[in-house]
Amino acid sequence: MKHSIPGKRKGFRSSFGVLVALAGSAVGLGNMWRFPYLMGTNGGSAFIILYLVSIIFVGLPIMIAEMVIGRRGQSNPVGSLSSLTGGKRFWRFAGILMVLAPALIMCYYGVVGGWTMDYLLKSVCNSFSTNLSETDCAAMFAASSGSVWRPLIFMFVFVFLSVLIISAGVQKGIERYSKILMPILFVVIILIAIYSVTLPGARQGLDFMFRPDFSKVTGSTVLSALGQSFFSLSLGAGTVLTYGSYISRDQDIPKMSLYTAISDTVFALIAGIAIIPAVFAFGFSPSEGPGLAFVVLPAIFSKMTGGGVVAVAFFFCLFLAALTSFISLLEVVAACLSEEFGLSRSRAAVITMCFVTLLGVVCSLSCGPLSNVKLFDKTIFDLFDFTASNILMMIGGLLVVLFVGWKMKRPDVIDEYSSSGRFTHTGIYRILYFLTKYVAPVAIVIIMVFGLIG
Ligand code: TRP
Repeated sequence: MKHSIPGKRKGFRSSFGVLVALAGSAVGLGNMWRFPYLMGTNGGSAFIILYLVSIIFVGLPIMIAEMVIGRRGQSNPVGSLSSLTGGKRFWRFAGILMVLAPALIMCYYGVVGGWTMDYLLKSVCNSFSTNLSETDCAAMFAASSGSVWRPLIFMFVFVFLSVLIISAGVQKGIERYSKILMPILFVVIILIAIYSVTLPGARQGLDFMFRPDFSKVTGSTVLSALGQSFFSLSLGAGTVLTYGSYISRDQDIPKMSLYTAISDTVFALIAGIAIIPAVFAFGFSPSEGPGLAFVVLPAIFSKMTGGGVVAVAFFFCLFLAALTSFISLLEVVAACLSEEFGLSRSRAAVITMCFVTLLGVVCSLSCGPLSNVKLFDKTIFDLFDFTASNILMMIGGLLVVLFVGWKMKRPDVIDEYSSSGRFTHTGIYRILYFLTKYVAPVAIVIIMVFGLIG
């Protein structure tokens, strides 16, 4: 029980600090890169509605459950789950599984983080100034991400930057940097969105996003909407659990979660408004898939008046968003190593960095020289993504709601919801508990089964 001395753990200083750190974790490549292209390929508005529904009924209960475990256990996923069950082997193992997910995500997230720096540098050097076609941009992307050294160097710098921030600690590192970076991110993306909707022809893009057309909804739309809500809110990978352990007892967990979910969703929508209308205005198709941010957007920037400045702003945002999310992934693994093996924070962060860089090299090379090496018909990069987001995170999310709904005692759960009676939204706690115990687990099992078969 070495971790469960309430109040002794050095956590976030203020509610605003918690909120920006949580939002920093949630708002990431998932919002600016994954959400717009998934929405584009899944019919726009209908996808948005399904996404909102899954956040409310599945995402929020999982997020709150993770925080409940973290704050009650006062430790990383392994430490919390094992101290709350008196060291039960199964739950310790569940904790390890939950730390494995961010470890794997980091390996490829760092690679994409490196690409965002590469593209930021490119836009600063005015590489998108001449009128580029989509083919030119596709070639540029292949050359940047597919070569040997270039992406590796950028990845290394990206990972190193995050390690510096993490080593400084929770308050002086994560909280301080998130407080600076997140507001900048919001302001810049809003400016880009305003610019995008004032482009001639932007109207069509707004219609695509906001005029519901349910004829486009298929089984796979539902699944990708649910999967995206997991990825975007950083669920099932111990991130929210670990941050939850830094939240003090006088803070309102359900309210924090709601605010985080709202910021993340609003940000995703603004990122959509920044991207989709511009895509329509320049006659591209929104259903380009994963290349949307790195291939289609540069082509658009090269055709816009003032596109050079917008490109710098956009890739700057993408880089910041990726950085604050990467920090949250790193924190889970580093906190776990440091607490379970008694290492200092900086040593734990450096060990994690070595592991991530080593496997990151493999992921990065699998986008170029090693692209023929395939396992289960997937490149190594895709395999990491698939294993983490479609298997480990889902299992992690399921274990979390099962733990809170079925393993913990109801009064203990309510005690965490209400911060030991400080808050009294009894009706809401009842609904929340029901969602956690029944709705979320069933929904996750359905997503997993369909996701893995289909
Ligand atoms: N949510 C982040 C994004 O939208 C990525 C992320 C950070 C994440 N931590 C996570 C995803 C933990 C899953 C689990 O890009």
